[in-house]
Amino acid sequence: MARSRLIAGNWKMHKTVGEAEALARGLVALGEPADQVLLCPPFTALARVGELLRGQPGFFRGAQNMHWEGAGAFTGEICPGMLAELGCAFVILGHSERRHIFRETDAEINRKVGAALGAGLAPVLCVGETQEEREAGRAQGVVGGQLRAGLAGAAAAEAARLVLAYEPVWAIGSGLAAGPGDAQGMAAFLRGELVQLWGREAADEVRILYGGSVTPDNIETFLAEGDVDGALVGGASLDAGNFGRMYRRK
Ligand code: PGA
Repeated sequence: MARSRLIAGNWKMHKTVGEAEALARGLVALGEPADQVLLCPPFTALARVGELLRGQPGFFRGAQNMHWEGAGAFTGEICPGMLAELGCAFVILGHSERRHIFRETDAEINRKVGAALGAGLAPVLCVGETQEEREAGRAQGVVGGQLRAGLAGAAAAEAARLVLAYEPVWAIGSGLAAGPGDAQGMAAFLRGELVQLWGREAADEVRILYGGSVTPDNIETFLAEGDVDGALVGGASLDAGNFGRMYRRK
């Protein structure tokens, strides 16, 4: 089965509602994307961006995080149903900033993956090693461990909805992107792990993105690799002209 390409923009803690509106308008003005384009604004801008994208084929919205419970006394948290109600199709889970700044564990991320699937959301599960882990020769071990822990309990039948993002921690926001060969190597390794978990057919349905200092100038080198099905873009997704250059338009 051919996997459709996905170009995702993680806006992180950037853009007021007004700024998000301007960015979304700018992207819509560029025309219909040929790739699937995923916009992940802050929670506060999800609804407004949704209004602007209504009736615009090819654009999807996602959140950057959520809690795993369906409701309750969790001050400051957002639950899966709240995102689904806003029309979100995706949710980024286990981003390295969540893991490292907010100390999210594999077990918590696993609960979130299960909750997302249960709520009809497509998880974008992020995995990636630190510089130290890479230098110690542990990159595959770390990333494979994050994959297996994150997906524990998920079924092969969910494969078509699952998106993985390989984001080496040292490449995020640093301007030092991984080499395309490294990105392909890790994507192929992850797909091999998925084959062991779920079998070849399901593994071939999972989309694997590369993220970490992706720019309009280097994105094609990643997309040319056979196991890389798209990109998760941070900084370069905050400007309509830049982000628009990163996906194909009809
Ligand atoms: P970057 O961020 O493109 O700014 O490196 C990527 C990410 O954190 O998803």
